[in-house]
Amino acid sequence: MKVTSIVLAASSLFLVNATPAIMKRDQEVCPGQSTVSETYIGANHNVKLTQVHCPENPTPERRALSSRQGNGTAPVVDVCGATCNTNCFTPSGGGPNPNDCSVIADAMRYYSQNVNDTFLIGTGTNNTVVAQYSTCQTFYVNQDPVEQSYCLTDWAAIVDFIAPNCQATQNAHGGNCVAADQQWFIQVQTNTA
Ligand SMILES: *[C@@H]1O[C@H](CO)[C@@H](O)[C@H](O)[C@H]1NC(C)=O
Ligand SMILES: *[C@@H]1O[C@H](CO)[C@@H](O)[C@H](O)[C@H]1NC(C)=O
Ligand SMILES: *[C@@H]1O[C@H](CO)[C@@H](O)[C@H](O)[C@H]1NC(C)=O
Repeated sequence: MKVTSIVLAASSLFLVNATPAIMKRDQEVCPGQSTVSETYIGANHNVKLTQVHCPENPTPERRALSSRQGNGTAPVVDVCGATCNTNCFTPSGGGPNPNDCSVIADAMRYYSQNVNDTFLIGTGTNNTVVAQYSTCQTFYVNQDPVEQSYCLTDWAAIVDFIAPNCQATQNAHGGNCVAADQQWFIQVQTNTA
């Protein structure tokens, strides 16, 4: 766990009306999404963790691959501890209940402590992992052409930051945290499922 290196300071918080579509999927995880697998995590087994299929996601160009690949073994880029910048989505109203988001964050920490902090995220149509409980939904999107690994303790810290800080009093209804190199992002929003 390298939470201290995540850029989550209030100074990094800013409001956005529109970001490029791939970095803001307001109110839906992805067009045409279907569930590939789901499991329930947390001490009470009540937070749904889903691997979804996003049929319209192209696999990004494998531009940076050769420099990372070394000697031909399938690369996995570990982005645990990488910095990201928070954006709140305007306008106010209809955001998730932060208490429900806290249940998700606690379940992630529970899983981290009891099973594994690290998880893998695929590419292209297989680049999205979703966690949801009651009114709150959060998802991780890998925008890299290679598989990534990330850690649940960092995801939990981001949920804990966005949920209470992108609310109606901030003229917001959820938000996201976009990696400094834009190769992944995490969104927190209202669960409409
Ligand atoms: C090359 O492959 C070996 C064995 O699979 C691995 O231990 C080593 O780290 C790899 N080197 C690079 C530069 O990726
Ligand atoms: C945790 O998950 C990662 C990614 O799937 C895997 O490489 C690692 O072996 C797992 N660790 C344990 C202790 O199961
Ligand atoms: C989707 O990605 C996960 C995580 O990298 C991987 O374990 C799984 O095999 C992939 N599924 C498909 C259908 O590619």
